[in-house]
Amino acid sequence: MYKLFFALVFTRMDPEKAHHLAFRWIRLAARVPVLRTFAAAVLAPRYKELRTEALGLRMHGPFGLAAGFDKNAQAVDGMAMLGFDHVEIGTVTSEPQPGNPGKRLFRLVPDRALINRMGFNNEGSAAVAERLAGRREVFRTTLGVNIGKTKVVPEEEAVADYVASTERLARHADYLVVNVSSPNTPGLRNLQATESLRPLLTAVREAADRTVTGRRVPLLVKIAPDLADEDVDAVADLALELGLDGIIATNTTIAREGLGLTSPPDVVAETGGLSGAPVKARSLEVLRRLYARVGDRITLVGVGGIADAEDAWQRILAGATLVQGYSAFVYEGPFYARAIHKGLAARLAASPYATLAEAVGAETRKAATA
Ligand SMILES: Cc1cc2nc3c(=O)[nH]c(=O)nc-3n(C[C@H](O)[C@H](O)[C@H](O)COP(=O)(O)O)c2cc1C
Repeated sequence: MYKLFFALVFTRMDPEKAHHLAFRWIRLAARVPVLRTFAAAVLAPRYKELRTEALGLRMHGPFGLAAGFDKNAQAVDGMAMLGFDHVEIGTVTSEPQPGNPGKRLFRLVPDRALINRMGFNNEGSAAVAERLAGRREVFRTTLGVNIGKTKVVPEEEAVADYVASTERLARHADYLVVNVSSPNTPGLRNLQATESLRPLLTAVREAADRTVTGRRVPLLVKIAPDLADEDVDAVADLALELGLDGIIATNTTIAREGLGLTSPPDVVAETGGLSGAPVKARSLEVLRRLYARVGDRITLVGVGGIADAEDAWQRILAGATLVQGYSAFVYEGPFYARAIHKGLAARLAASPYATLAEAVGAETRKAATA
């Protein structure tokens, strides 16, 4: 049904307009009590065996919405209604900004992929903090807040920019993510180098501790799939050194590998980050590498090309305690999270593992001892 609708309506619309339309429907449905109760009952069935404890938080399950879909925290309940066990809002920058001009989101339908160069269009940390402060939670969910650098702020002043966002947003976050991996803000990914990342993460940690005193806000970093293997290892070592809570692997890629030959070459050539099926192999590889290095000491979040329950299960076996998706949601529609939950519960039942936690990293551990 959704696939037919997608083929007949959404594919004829500009992708960003289609996003806004879908987003409006989700928000609307979440505002109508009868509708949202019905939608959640159908789309967000809970499985006891999928209950997850991660980052010191209790969640209904391991599967959440990746950053970028709800940049301004306008549809947290709507996304929870659709079955996402955690919702990562943002990327939010310290100052409001419009993002890149013109057409900036592209569908590669045959490749089940997207290219985007949105450029962190968002209302800024003050406005988002105000919205979160006034939010009355309808569905209990875990809220991640993903922060990034304001485009006009020079790289040398990046730390202060992230700190300003942290001071406004940390108190509203169940967990906080420092995004240094979007390809659409010039220079941002240079912050992944450990000599830049160390002072940045240290300052954000301090700002979070200074502004939120009653609890420790878990802090994660989100990395790009384009990092060389040695750099992935370096981030892992730094995360251990700094006592970081988690690493999210991965963001979109600037590579154009993994594409079939069916998407039009002019679309494939668009500048921006590629997501969806083509990024799956490298995201999984980065995750495996991280798990081999940090094991259970740091929570790993697997994201990139997760289209179905099998993909999510493979990520868990590779070492992810949490998994996220974005691009496949566009193609799969409102039953996306439900299918993942159902399939994960079935896979766990058929597996040798008694709990989901036991399955985390099992394949990577096996490979290490083989
Ligand atoms: C249109 C679009 C916008 C995105 N915006 C952000 C963002 O603002 N911050 C961020 O950390 N990741 C952003 N992402 C990356 C996703 O969170 C995710 O890491 C990536 O798309 C890989 O997952 P997927 O293959 O399931 O889409 C964006 C992705 C897309 C497709």
